Amino acid sequence: MSNTETTHPQHPHRRFAMLSKPDPNWVRSDDFHASFLIPKDDALERSLKYSDENGLPEINVHAGQGKLLHLLARSIGAKRILEVGTLGGYSTIWFARAVPEDGQVITCELKENFAEVARNNFEYAGVANKVKVLVGPAAETLQTLPSDEKFDFAFIDADKASNLTYFLQAKRLVRRGGIIIVDNVIRNGTVANPDIDDENVRGVRNLLAHIKEDKEVDATTIGTVSEKGYDGFLYALYL
Ligand code: DHB
Ligand code: MG
Repeated sequence: MSNTETTHPQHPHRRFAMLSKPDPNWVRSDDFHASFLIPKDDALERSLKYSDENGLPEINVHAGQGKLLHLLARSIGAKRILEVGTLGGYSTIWFARAVPEDGQVITCELKENFAEVARNNFEYAGVANKVKVLVGPAAETLQTLPSDEKFDFAFIDADKASNLTYFLQAKRLVRRGGIIIVDNVIRNGTVANPDIDDENVRGVRNLLAHIKEDKEVDATTIGTVSEKGYDGFLYALYL
């Protein structure tokens, strides 16, 4: 893996797995914008703390990105959301809060111990009634989901080598007009660097090569710079 372990400028005791060092200027900027736009939230903060205490890697989406995902889901009136890669459930909580009381978030997680942490976080956040965690390899789990119960939105944020597999499953499960977002498609620029070739960048390149030929989706990459480094979302509209 091409991650470097580094320290967070404002939380030096916390080890951060990330693709590039956080620039203090970016961190200050994140904090500045969040101070206007993202109120402090006990359940979200607790989900990160509880995840950290249980040894989960700090590779959750950043707050500003979580809120963007939440707003996008609300913007299309999403009632059913599919997530691949639960981790501690931080983004899942953002999604669960975007769907109505009778909505549902189905989230796939490989590791039972991660899923346990996430379920605990959903209970604390008061969203457990809207979230179903499916444990196991997502490539297998997704195949078991029926294609007649469509999702409005899918978020893919799991092992990068399987991006294309997850994307094709998401297409099977998302309605026409729905959105599929894939996290970590820039990876500090490594995806575009011909000198770098690992399973993560290959997983992103395979997905991009597929989408180039896939006439059923239209897509773009939007870079995300945050305290988590330089990365990006792939945003795909299922036509
Ligand atoms: C990694 C995974 C992620 O989903 C992310 O947002 C950042 C890093 C990783 O596996 O290194
Ligand atoms: Mg990610």
